[in-house]
Amino acid sequence: MVDVDGLKFDAQVSRRIEAVYTTPDVVEQRQAVRAALALRPGDRVLDIGVGPGLLAAEMAGEVGPDGRICGIDISDSMLAIARTRADVPGGPGIELEQASVDRIPYPAESFDVVVSTQVFEYVEDVAGALREVRRVLRPAGRVVLLDTDWGSVVWRSNDDTRMARVLTAFEDHLADPHLPRTLADVLVKTGFTPTHQQVVPILNTGYDERTFSAGLIDIVSDFVPGHGDVTAEETAAWADDLRGLGDSYFFSLNRYLFVASAL
Ligand SMILES: C[S@@+](CC[C@H](N)C(=O)[O-])C[C@H]1O[C@@H](n2cnc3c(N)ncnc32)[C@H](O)[C@@H]1O
Repeated sequence: MVDVDGLKFDAQVSRRIEAVYTTPDVVEQRQAVRAALALRPGDRVLDIGVGPGLLAAEMAGEVGPDGRICGIDISDSMLAIARTRADVPGGPGIELEQASVDRIPYPAESFDVVVSTQVFEYVEDVAGALREVRRVLRPAGRVVLLDTDWGSVVWRSNDDTRMARVLTAFEDHLADPHLPRTLADVLVKTGFTPTHQQVVPILNTGYDERTFSAGLIDIVSDFVPGHGDVTAEETAAWADDLRGLGDSYFFSLNRYLFVASAL
């Protein structure tokens, strides 16, 4: 669960995330997730931490009218955005509910596939959450997870000490900023068989507003003042430095994608 110190998915953060998740970087990431999902018409899918509903809407078109797409999220602001995408032509209509992964509001074996992108890194009890996922999956159903390892970030700055302080403070927004490196172990411990792992990198070279990392500067700027001992002034100077790099701007970050079977 997101605790009092973590990122709050309120109306402003939800809108910022929706904007960042419509950039070409994250559109491409969803293509990698959908390739790993390999959905078929009629599949029943649960999207945990459905967020703005972008992936859910794409999946609805793939499973068609005989399929089922359910989305849960703890944030009412995110669910309000997702509701604007709930009716997909040729889809089943997306069913949305406010709920947390640690108490999934569906009976056992309700789904063929469970997907959760950029969510488990916010979850305190990942093993408990995976046991819930396993409960709602049919035997031999599969789970697809994607999370960021913040140890992979490479972000050019004119002040590397300040960059390190800001990134360390930003790690407070997550329960586990390094989840991917241990996730396969936790999947095995909770009874899953990992079948596929891949890296999904993001690379932004040259400063451009319509990129993942340009939007991330705003999200970091809202979050970090008061975390660690980073001040608002230091954060503003950090952001100004990055935006001023122009053609010399460089950002790279890795997401990691896991497919596992509930055998
Ligand atoms: C970074 S967003 C990702 C949204 C979406 N999965 C995507 O990739 O477009 C994280 C989402 O996870 C949700 N979330 C965080 N903790 C959760 C929990 N314990 N159960 C369900 N949703 C959660 C947040 O409210 C937010 O909508």
